[in-house]
Amino acid sequence: MIDEALRVFKELDSKDFRILTGIETGMKHFEWVPIDELNKYTRLPFEKLEYRLKKLVRNKLVVRTTQPYEGYQIYFEGYDVLALNAFVKRKSISAIGDEVGVGKESVIYEAILPPELAIGEPVPVVIKFHREGRTSFKQIKRVREHLGEREHFSWIYAARLAAQREYGIMAALYPKVSIPKPFDHNRHAIVMELAKGSLLSKTKLLDPEWYLDEILKQVKITYSLGIIHADLSEYNIFASEEGVQLIDWPQYITPEHPHADEILERDVSNVLTHFYRKYGIKRELEETIREIKSQAPRNAGDKKEGEENRVGGNAEEWELEEEPEEKIFEEDILQEEGFGAENFEAEEFEVEEIEAEEFEAEEFEAEEIEAEKFEAEEIEIKKIETGKTEAEKTEEDTEKET
Ligand SMILES: Nc1ncnc2c1ncn2[C@@H]1O[C@H](COP(=O)(O)OP(=O)(O)OP(=O)(O)O)[C@@H](O)[C@H]1O
Ligand SMILES: [Mg+2]
Repeated sequence: MIDEALRVFKELDSKDFRILTGIETGMKHFEWVPIDELNKYTRLPFEKLEYRLKKLVRNKLVVRTTQPYEGYQIYFEGYDVLALNAFVKRKSISAIGDEVGVGKESVIYEAILPPELAIGEPVPVVIKFHREGRTSFKQIKRVREHLGEREHFSWIYAARLAAQREYGIMAALYPKVSIPKPFDHNRHAIVMELAKGSLLSKTKLLDPEWYLDEILKQVKITYSLGIIHADLSEYNIFASEEGVQLIDWPQYITPEHPHADEILERDVSNVLTHFYRKYGIKRELEETIREIKSQAPRNAGDKKEGEENRVGGNAEEWELEEEPEEKIFEEDILQEEGFGAENFEAEEFEVEEIEAEEFEAEEFEAEEIEAEKFEAEEIEIKKIETGKTEAEKTEEDTEKET
C-alpha cells in the first residue's frame, strides 16, 4: 500500500500540491470547491488545471462532482500527501517505510528522521496519520443533501484536532513520562520516535512484575502532571529491555473531567486485568489507585503545591472541543504555519511570506500564507532503501509536463 502512496507522492510537483491545498482551503467554505476558485487560487489556466485535477482524481487523492457544478473534495489520502510534503520540506523525515500499525482511528508508517546537521545516526520514527471522522465522511457522502453548511469539513477538522491534541500533550509529557519522543506535527499527522520493543499484547514478558511496576509508575507520573491517558491497555503500551513506553494520547483527560475517577480506574483496571490473565499477578485495584493518586494534588487547597508540575492540561482545555469550529481551526492554522513553532527556521518563514504575496486571491485571504509547499523544489523522499534517484524522478516529471 505504501508503494502505491509513495508512487503517487513522487509523481506530484509543487503545482499539484498547490491544487491540493486550494481544495483543502476551499473546503472550509464550499462543500465542493468550484474549479473557478481553484483557478484563482493556483493561477493555473483551466486547461492545465483540468489535466492535473484528472490525475489527482485518478490517483484517488481528490474526488470530483459535476452536479450542480464542477467541484472537488479532498480525500484522506490527498490530505496525507500534503502533510507528508510539509514534513519533507521541513526535513522532519527523509524516507518512508512500511505501514507498521493500523488503529481504529489512524494509520502508522515507519519513516526516517535525518540526523541533525548531517552528523550522527538517522533516527527511526513513525508518522501517525489520524483518521478520525472517517466514518462520518462516508455518511456525509451518502446524505450530503441534508447537511448543514460546513459538515462536509468535519473529518478534516476532527482528524486535525486529534493530531493537534495528541502532539500537544506528547510534547508536554516528554520526557517526564516514558513515551515516544514527538518530533513534528502537521495537519492530521504526527512524527514521533519509533517505540522500542513490542506491544504488551504481542509479548510474553520474562519479568512481568517489573514491567507492571514500570507501567504503574508511568501512570503515576502522568497523573501527578495532571493527565490521565484514558485509553490505556496492553494495546497502547510498548515493552522493551529498557522499560515501557505509553502511546496513543489524543483522548487524554485531566482530573477535572467529570468522569476522571472512573476513567483512571478503567485504565488501571485494564492493565491489572492483563497482568492477571496472562501472568497470574494479583494486585488490588483500589490500593493501586490510591498509590497512583498519592502524590497528586487532591483538592483546590493543596493544588498549589503540585500546580507547577502540571503540563497545561486543565478543564478549559478539555472544553476546547466544544468551541465553535471556526475559532479552533484558525488557531490550528496559525500554529501550523509556524508562528511560534520551533520546527520552522526563521529563513524558511521569510521565504513563505514573500511567496504568499504572489497568490493574493480574495477568497483565501488568511490561508494564503500556507505556502510551505509551493517552492519549486525537488521532493526528496524515497522509500527506505529502495528509493528512485532524483535523476529518475526529474526525468519522469519532464515526461509528464510534455
Ligand atoms: N510510536 C510508535 N512506534 C511504533 N509503533 C507504533 C507507534 N505508534 C503507534 N504504533 C502502532 O500503531 C498502532 C496504532 O497506533 P495508535 O494506538 O496510536 O492508534 P489508534 O488509531 O489511536 O489506535 P486504537 O485502535 O488503539 O484507537 C499501535 O497499536 C502500534 O502497533
Ligand atoms: Mg491504540
